Amino acid sequence: MGRDRKLVVALDGPASSGKSSVGAAAALQLGYRFCDTGLLYRSVTWLSLQRRMSPGDVPALVALAEEVHLAPDHQGRLDRVVVDGKDVTEEVHTAAVDQGVSEIAAVGEVRAALLPRQRALARDRGIIMAGRDIGTVVLPDADLKIFLEASVEERARRRIEERGIAPDSREAGEILSQLRRRDELDRTRAVAPLRPATDAHILQTDSNRFEQTVGMVVKEIAAAEEARSSQTKAPA
Ligand code: DC
Repeated sequence: MGRDRKLVVALDGPASSGKSSVGAAAALQLGYRFCDTGLLYRSVTWLSLQRRMSPGDVPALVALAEEVHLAPDHQGRLDRVVVDGKDVTEEVHTAAVDQGVSEIAAVGEVRAALLPRQRALARDRGIIMAGRDIGTVVLPDADLKIFLEASVEERARRRIEERGIAPDSREAGEILSQLRRRDELDRTRAVAPLRPATDAHILQTDSNRFEQTVGMVVKEIAAAEEARSSQTKAPA
């Protein structure tokens, strides 16, 4: 199995659909690189909060986009964020960032500043890139596009379980309403809204365990690799 079989895979889906964890696990199984692009938007948001910037100060936000860098973890997955030489991955996953990130991600100029950086990462084949607009905008020519779907209730349930929160607590209710709000903002924004590409494979994951979804993604990629290599082998 040569390295040239490897593909460029776009993995999109709404907040808490499991893109990052599923994508990272599938990448590990297949020997692909993995990149979580949500971290770029999260780190710009985090920096703007740190510096008490107004979400309306577009030039300042665009400048922040230059300051954030993705870094590999010990398994080579680009799922760490480095700002000023410091790993701030934990900081960008706070509730304050969750709350502000959709607004920052809706700023067209910020998206434009981050676009070439995401594309550059996919120049070498063998990558799964996770986000909202990877199949539609960032990598419209990706070899395979996967869109993970799950109902908002199921996504909230998973997040509540992950964080060890009581299901009937006020905090749990807030997680559900915040996910609804982020869905609405991500789906209705004017620039690069969250939606499956017309050629995306939509995977419904509501009743799945984590490993099942990883298995589905691995299977999709293996089938696409197979299809691609038999196309290449076919006589002209
Ligand atoms: O996947 P996540 O929850 O970490 O993403 C954080 C935010 O970033 C999300 O609200 C939408 C935005 N985002 C985006 O607009 N485009 C991407 N490719 C990735 C994330």
